[in-house]
Amino acid sequence: MPYLQRILNAKVYDVARETELELARSLSTRLGNTVLLKREDNQPVFSFKLRGAYNKMVNLSAEQRARGVICASAGNHAQGVALSARRLGCRAVIVMPVTTPALKVDAVRTLGGEVLLHGDSYSDAYDQAVKVAADQGLTFVHPFDDPDVIAGQGTIGMEILRQHQGPIDAVFVAIGGGGLISGVAAYLKSVRPGIKVIGVQTTDSDAMARSVEAGKRVRLTDVGLFSDGTAVKQVGKETFRLTRVLVDEFIRVDTDAICAAMKDVFQDTRSILEPAGALGVAAVKQYVERTGCRDQTLIAITCGANMNFDRLRFVAERAEMGEEREALFAVTIPEERGSFKRFCELIGPRSVTEFNYRISDEQKAHLFVGLSTRTHGESAQIGELFRGQGFDAIDLSHDELAIDHIRHQVGGRSELAANERLFRFEFPERPGALMRFLSSMHPGWNISLFHYRNQGADYGRILVGIQVPKADRSRFRQFLDTLAYPCIEETDNPVYRLFLR
Ligand SMILES: Cc1ncc(COP(=O)(O)O)c(C=O)c1O
Repeated sequence: MPYLQRILNAKVYDVARETELELARSLSTRLGNTVLLKREDNQPVFSFKLRGAYNKMVNLSAEQRARGVICASAGNHAQGVALSARRLGCRAVIVMPVTTPALKVDAVRTLGGEVLLHGDSYSDAYDQAVKVAADQGLTFVHPFDDPDVIAGQGTIGMEILRQHQGPIDAVFVAIGGGGLISGVAAYLKSVRPGIKVIGVQTTDSDAMARSVEAGKRVRLTDVGLFSDGTAVKQVGKETFRLTRVLVDEFIRVDTDAICAAMKDVFQDTRSILEPAGALGVAAVKQYVERTGCRDQTLIAITCGANMNFDRLRFVAERAEMGEEREALFAVTIPEERGSFKRFCELIGPRSVTEFNYRISDEQKAHLFVGLSTRTHGESAQIGELFRGQGFDAIDLSHDELAIDHIRHQVGGRSELAANERLFRFEFPERPGALMRFLSSMHPGWNISLFHYRNQGADYGRILVGIQVPKADRSRFRQFLDTLAYPCIEETDNPVYRLFLR
């Protein structure tokens, strides 16, 4: 049966809903194009995968359904299969790698799936699923390489055309094994072939783009796992055959761009996507920047929202990098009275996101400084400003070593930290608050350690080491009283003794 017919006949609405096709208002304004989001993250199991799974299972014979189904998946397919099985009243065995997070195992169990934990990787789980399927006479439900699965995903294309009757210039679709894009492209190219279908992959998991470039299916030895929904080493035979002829172009996006896209979608919808779910939006941005297109209608399928809460900190931090909203610098200033204050004045009203320093040299001080930026390329201008005022500055905004590690390691023991006392201060986190704090810290005692990172909390927390001669103790007490920030002395804390003195 041709795919158009399969899609028109697909049964998905027993479990899936027709999701919204929604304007991303501020992203559209920023990009000068109409950006619409097809909100598959709003499906009952937070991804489109239940469409394909249900369509496959509802088309099985009564006898096959009575025996039950099996699949291998650590992610959205597992939940799609489990939910569909519950709706159809059939048994579903889900084989998951032993390493699958408890959250996902529980989600499948809650839906009534029988979880079988096996092996360390998806391929171990897959091999086991094929074996159990043969042993127990269960039907294997493939996550992407099956015409019924592809047709189920294709119903998204059908909804898009029904929901938006005006011109559509391009639709951006994330690719893992290729089921989603095959179905969507099959429908769009049959009904409105002028619409560009653009496949999106991550730079470190691009099996489909590489396969199409090579003219044959390529197996990757390793794939990046950040966008776990699309981390597939080899695409399907059928999905490759379809994608090769139907998809107009491929765009690869990196982790920072995905995080920035997650933030964009959050700003427009107040929803949090999973990384795979944001691939389409990241690609829309890249496409607009590359082609310079204006006033077009661009649709991104936001295909999933199964996001672990504990990843949000990483995403928030990388989004700043992806959007170039934060610039990082190593700045060298003379270790002398007044130079710290002079440097602070140079920062001016900019918002400080990070400030780390540890005394280590009698002549020079090396500061690790993060600043909020608004525009691309602003970090280069700030670097020039620092250097113009005689402060040596290295731009670390794109330095992975600095971003991932060194920012957490500035410090350590110092021979030069005689008479050092250590304090934790809190201050209300308002624009300019850190600068006010920094400039009020100029009593003539040397600052030998400083650590601050904007964590997005209501109170800023900083750690300060100050060298206070014994004779000055009571004057120092007065200084703290005048400062009037809540503070706790940590000089006797064993952690300080172990790692910093
Ligand atoms: C959220 C999300 N996006 C995209 C994909 C990729 O879909 P496909 O394997 O059909 O290309 C998946 C697959 O599980 C997914 O869960």
